[in-house]
Amino acid sequence: MPDSLLRVLTCGSVDDGKSTLIGRLLFECGSIPDDVLVALERDSRRFGTVEGGTDYALLVDGLAAEREQGVTIDVAYRFFETPKRRFILADSPGHQQYTRNMVTGASTSDFAVLLVDARKGLLAQTRRHAAIVSLLGIRDVVLAVNKMDLVGFEQSVFDTIVADFQALLDRLGPLSVTAIPVCARDGDNVTRRSDNMPWYTGATLLTALEQAEPAVPAGKKPFRMPVQYVNRPDHTFRGYAGTIEAGVLRPGDTVVNTTSRTEAKIERIVTMDGDLAEAGRDEPVTLVLDREIDVSRGDVLAADPLPALADQIDAWVVWMDETPLFRGRAYQFMLGTKSVMGTITDITNRLDVDSLQEVAVRELALNEIGRVSISLSHPVACEPYSDSRTLGGFILVDRLTRNTVGAGMVTGIKAARSDVYWHRLDVNKEARSLLNGQKPAVLWFTGLSGAGKSTIANLVEKQLLASGRHTMTLDGDNVRHGLNRDLGFSEADRVENIRRIAEVSKLFVEAGLIVLVSFISPYRNERMLARDCVEEGEFLEIYVDTPVDECRRRDPKGLYQKADAGQLRNFTGVDAPYEAPLDPEIRLATLEGSPEILAAKVIDELRLRGIVG
Ligand code: ADX
Repeated sequence: MPDSLLRVLTCGSVDDGKSTLIGRLLFECGSIPDDVLVALERDSRRFGTVEGGTDYALLVDGLAAEREQGVTIDVAYRFFETPKRRFILADSPGHQQYTRNMVTGASTSDFAVLLVDARKGLLAQTRRHAAIVSLLGIRDVVLAVNKMDLVGFEQSVFDTIVADFQALLDRLGPLSVTAIPVCARDGDNVTRRSDNMPWYTGATLLTALEQAEPAVPAGKKPFRMPVQYVNRPDHTFRGYAGTIEAGVLRPGDTVVNTTSRTEAKIERIVTMDGDLAEAGRDEPVTLVLDREIDVSRGDVLAADPLPALADQIDAWVVWMDETPLFRGRAYQFMLGTKSVMGTITDITNRLDVDSLQEVAVRELALNEIGRVSISLSHPVACEPYSDSRTLGGFILVDRLTRNTVGAGMVTGIKAARSDVYWHRLDVNKEARSLLNGQKPAVLWFTGLSGAGKSTIANLVEKQLLASGRHTMTLDGDNVRHGLNRDLGFSEADRVENIRRIAEVSKLFVEAGLIVLVSFISPYRNERMLARDCVEEGEFLEIYVDTPVDECRRRDPKGLYQKADAGQLRNFTGVDAPYEAPLDPEIRLATLEGSPEILAAKVIDELRLRGIVG
């Protein structure tokens, strides 16, 4: 007996007829209320694309704005049922830029319907969809070859498309495929057999959906629950709320907090409808333990065998941002209910969706899927995605814009509790600072080439030195002759340039010094990373604000002239971007004051902040 609920992802390219197909299914399974049907008839006359008939696509492309533009723009979930089972359809639009929606839909689905237009055959988009579906752990698909009426219901057309798809299979991983020729507009082989295609004797789409077995039998896996929040209304009650992700739980069972490795027994399983004697997958519960152990949001309660505690992982990442993914860049890494900082330590391969082969790359562009290694700021309880979607699936969030920029699937856990230990040293930053008689700090000068960063930093350092302070300067032009000699000016190299400098300045802060950093550092993301490397209050972002025209006029190294003449590529302010600080600690407008005055302003600010006495 199949599980009574099946989550189905539908994917197709633009104009494949996906909305019509879904509309058909909903209509024929009787899940359309009468008033909606009346509206559908009316809308079919106004907006419909089926002359004189009902346009079922309008049931699905619900939003007026979408109708006007003629596109579907969101991921939507729809429910319907037959006497045999219930269904949740996740519908993701076919446009390339909505890969993000497709990933969202796929990560919660057991089954996928891949739609192909019989006239067009397999498109790159179909291959992309199949690749994502397979990567996201869906093992069962229906290949629905639609618009068979437009190819005269020819079996040979269908057979060619099926053969093309079969040829992809050995490169897609284990995928079981049922191919069905359909005409969604008229309902052929959707819920009833088609008289137009007597050569096809297989299942209709609906039968295939009714007979599908969802991927993993729930309950058979060990218990897992990411803790969403600690419920502590008063001192008499303390419960851990979350949704059970796997396994079955009963009072008396032993659970372990994966982060601290402490264990306790379940005393009560509390829900809105009273206590339960047993709870399983997908159930939202609050667990009361028989003793106090340290549990916080983001921890995972689990039964043996426990998930790994990882601080370095390998993963497939689907990249969804206009700015490519670079090595060295840091993002918020969210897995289960845990959120930590994740730094990209390596990008090795990209999956070419046309050939379905892996190609060596160093970065990932929009909509690309690649193999990435990520180092985490704190250990996270996780499992390979193939074992657990919740504990193996994660997203990457841009820390400045809060946009979700990537979705990932853990494939390997490189180091659980790294073997590289952090030594606690007796002589530490505090001791060194005390000896130096100063508070350590990073003065991070950022601005265009020729803005005056080094000139002002130099004056500030001279004054600090004159008053007996201990300082160190890191200057872009100089460091690029040594430590960063291997780096150029591509976006990826600049990211790495700044990442190294952020680490080096952290070391100098540990040494108790006042560090003056003078780099263009054009990206907000890396400046934020540098800020995060040291403690609160130790980092001062100093924006040396000079308009590009003024820098061009000054042009101390003649580089603007070269860049304008096309002899120097990727030059900041000319053909490479500069992201000005939004909220710097100090802004120095060089058009409004001499370097001496601006240096004095910095010294004043250091006094105000107690960095120098
Ligand atoms: S950053 O962008 O990675 O922070 P960094 O401060 O290290 O740059 O180096 C900038 C210096 O390198 C400039 O002041 C200039 O002298 C030199 N330079 C050479 N080529 C470029 C370029 N394409 N863009 C910017 N600076 C360049």
